[in-house]
Amino acid sequence: MSQKYNAPRGTQDVLPPDSAIYQYIVDTARRVFGLYGYKEIQTPIFEHTELFVRGVGEATDVVTKEMYTFLDKKGRSLSLRPEGTAGVIRSYLEHNLGAQNPINKLYYVGPMFRYERPQAGRLRQHTQIGAECIGSSQPTLDVEVIAMFQNFVGSLGLKDVTLLLNSLGDNNCRPKYREALQNYFKDNLPNLCHDCNERFQKNPLRILDCKNESCQAIVQKSPVMLDYLCDDCKAHFDTIQKSLTELNIKFTLAPLLVRGLDYYTRTLFEFQVSTLGAQNAIGGGGRYDNLIEELGGAPTPALGFGSGIERLALTLKAQNITPQQSTKSPVTLVAQGKNCIQRIILLSEELRQKGIPVELDHRFGSFKSQLKFADKLGSSHVLILGENELAKNVILLKTMSNGEQREIPLDQIITTLFS
Ligand code: HAM
Repeated sequence: MSQKYNAPRGTQDVLPPDSAIYQYIVDTARRVFGLYGYKEIQTPIFEHTELFVRGVGEATDVVTKEMYTFLDKKGRSLSLRPEGTAGVIRSYLEHNLGAQNPINKLYYVGPMFRYERPQAGRLRQHTQIGAECIGSSQPTLDVEVIAMFQNFVGSLGLKDVTLLLNSLGDNNCRPKYREALQNYFKDNLPNLCHDCNERFQKNPLRILDCKNESCQAIVQKSPVMLDYLCDDCKAHFDTIQKSLTELNIKFTLAPLLVRGLDYYTRTLFEFQVSTLGAQNAIGGGGRYDNLIEELGGAPTPALGFGSGIERLALTLKAQNITPQQSTKSPVTLVAQGKNCIQRIILLSEELRQKGIPVELDHRFGSFKSQLKFADKLGSSHVLILGENELAKNVILLKTMSNGEQREIPLDQIITTLFS
């Protein structure tokens, strides 16, 4: 019985030529992040569920609704990572990276998993490029991280990217804001959705992030954190805004921006584009000065961001940006007959060792069909070996652009192709 298999809902295959766009995005990130001193970290795709519950927050949608959680054969609860920060911090603590460097700048590239309702730009498996800077509360780093993201999207060639900025305060000032929010929402509880009624107790800030229209109407008039910042948080936020202005990085204050993860403190930012519809965030992040202590480490300030490659790729396409392909067009080797085929197999490896891309039509049909194959690949040159040429120790070099054909000695191919 034949069975048809499809990729699971909310996942996608990345096929050529689109895979070149993904590669371009990752290559650009690696190059730009390197300019700022970031080094790559790789952490597992699954972690103990508890890490995300504690790290990301038990009242977040990501933890309550979206995690792929399973028991392993020993009954341990594990979850596919819904985001990268918690795993990086777990690794930072486990390997005591703070003792080796006062400031650790780490980036990662890899899949994240969230059981969300799939739509354009929202997948159940998406790929994030993320960066975390651990070890300093200096606002210069908030500015540097934002500038790095800006540099990254600028280097990709993206236009019309909007930066939203907010501050969520710290342990000193946020409790007062939380109280103000509860006071405001308590009269509106009957008009808030079931989830928001639960959020009201656990973390009223999460109500600000509710997508429900009737909740949003209430949220629009709620108090904002910027009015509650303590002197230190205000000074921190003012310095960032001043530096961004000096760097000519435009931003819009978004006093109701909270983002979907509970670990944020102080600076919060999101980069948006208009071409993606509802899923308009191509990246976002902020400070999380309490997370390391929350996960069992010494109090250590940190910040970072994550950016979805799929959304970046959609934006590049919507803006008609095609990555410059630096790949050289291949040389195709053509042969017929056992001896000639054997000889061009040797030759193909020799050429590749010299850095020349080589293709062969491994079906080894007629010369005509092999030349058609070369043409379809866009080969610059074709090398043709028949019994006559082999007997004379030569090969035919055909230049595809003008159809010219000449005989060259087999042992002079490399010098000829390089000259
Ligand atoms: P996040 O905003 O949840 O933050 O995700 C970062 C980015 O990943 C989003 O801006 C979006 O581009 C992409 N993304 C998220 N979910 C999906 C999805 N379902 N489908 C497609 N793309 C998606 C974080 O995950 C934080 N860990 C970022 C961070 C790092 N904050 C501090 N350090």
